[in-house]
Amino acid sequence: MSKTKKAEPLKNDIRVEEWAEPNETAQTIELVQAPEVKSSGLDKMRVRGGNALNGEIRISGAKNAALKHMCAAILSDQPLQLQNMPVGLGDVRTLAQVLSHLGVRIAMRSDGVAVLHAREITNSVAPYDLVRKMRASVLVLGPLLARHGHAEVSLPGGCALGTRPVDLHINGLRAMGAEIEIENGYIKAEASNGLHSAEIMFPKVSVGATENLMMAATLAKGTTVLSNAAREPEIVDQGEALIKMGARIDGLGTPEIKIEGVASLHGATHSVVPDRIETGTYMCAVGLTGGEVRLKNTRTDFLSALIGLLHEAGMDIKQDGADVVVKRNGAKIRGVDLMTEPYPGFPTDLQAQFMTMLTLCDGAGMINETIFENRFMHVPELNRMGADIRVQGNAAIIRGVDKLEGAEVMATDLRASVALILAGLVAEGETTVNRIYHLDRGYENIVEKLTSVGADIERI
Ligand code: EPZ
Repeated sequence: MSKTKKAEPLKNDIRVEEWAEPNETAQTIELVQAPEVKSSGLDKMRVRGGNALNGEIRISGAKNAALKHMCAAILSDQPLQLQNMPVGLGDVRTLAQVLSHLGVRIAMRSDGVAVLHAREITNSVAPYDLVRKMRASVLVLGPLLARHGHAEVSLPGGCALGTRPVDLHINGLRAMGAEIEIENGYIKAEASNGLHSAEIMFPKVSVGATENLMMAATLAKGTTVLSNAAREPEIVDQGEALIKMGARIDGLGTPEIKIEGVASLHGATHSVVPDRIETGTYMCAVGLTGGEVRLKNTRTDFLSALIGLLHEAGMDIKQDGADVVVKRNGAKIRGVDLMTEPYPGFPTDLQAQFMTMLTLCDGAGMINETIFENRFMHVPELNRMGADIRVQGNAAIIRGVDKLEGAEVMATDLRASVALILAGLVAEGETTVNRIYHLDRGYENIVEKLTSVGADIERI
């Protein structure tokens, strides 16, 4: 067995403790601190364009599933062990701080194992200082109410993508018997006699509201029905983990999810689904640069909308066992049109990357963004690099140009940041992307991964 290292406290007050059930093996308690997230607000990324990408990249566990599994740990007084966790991500670290503040013991190992143990909830307040760093913190609301009967969670507020309200979360929990007031910027929620079941029809498909209410319903009295529910693979993954913890859930991956409440949930072990957005990001990178990359430990089935378009654009993508092989040799990609939609439609989280790929297409493409009101912040930066993109309302027309040119650009959110990195991979000369702390929130080891397939990229 590899050398055992004693767990050490992490920076930022994340409590890391040795983990051991009475009959667990030594391997299990060999939990050491996960690698530090290196970025500061001043970090930049320098990319020199021109290299085709060739080689292998290992895809990490999905950020947007991992965060929800972490919140689900609140539902049980027994430990939840997560594998394939992207422990290096800024967002995982931020949520660990929130959970730690609530009394959850957390240990993370650099090889992607995390154990979360909510033996006791010692605090039911998620303060503004922690929630403002990451909106997904609002997902502690449902589990806290269901397990503890009380929760105070700071309202997350807007973000770079738009206003992003949480009314669907709040209305759903009210329908399940919670008394909720908004006071001083906080959602103050009470369910002292526990939550009860409800039939909830979402007026709009929401990933987060589906997840928050599904978690809450696992411990509510009776059978809750969520209609017009989101169907994202990360929600299916979350539901499967909850079932391993003893929850009774039917209809995952369909618009109607039924959850029969149980008295308590128990511990479980679950491996996080691969990150489809990271997978799609590297597919778009190859679409831009050309070359052949094997994406290890991922799937094509949860990216059908993207892959259909990449085929139409002239790329070659195949599942090969547990890997996916992505190729573009020779000809330019062809211009195609798309509209972002809830799953199984084209994901809004891949819109900026796909648009970047279209900047060099043969012909033109049109993109309609239907999920967020303000998700074209990358456009002015891409145009500064020589792209020809015009935006009108929620539509963008991208006319293919012959080349992009390196420039100093500013990242505004996670997916916009990575889009600018992709542009830098093909731009003539040097591109410097500022404010890359956004990138570290959601892309694990991106410099190492891109360098290993031939990109010229460094953090400065
Ligand atoms: C999740 O956000 C993801 N985040 C987002 O990924 C992703 O872009 C989004 O789903 C859509 O796929 C996480 O999983 C942590 P929604 P979420 O609730 O749950 C409106 C990334 O880059 N709405 O499905 O917050 C909302 O304003 C991030 O990784 C309400 O009106 O998204 C939006 O227009 C960014 N009221 C639409 O619904 C509500 O109560 C869909 O949002 C909730 C949402």
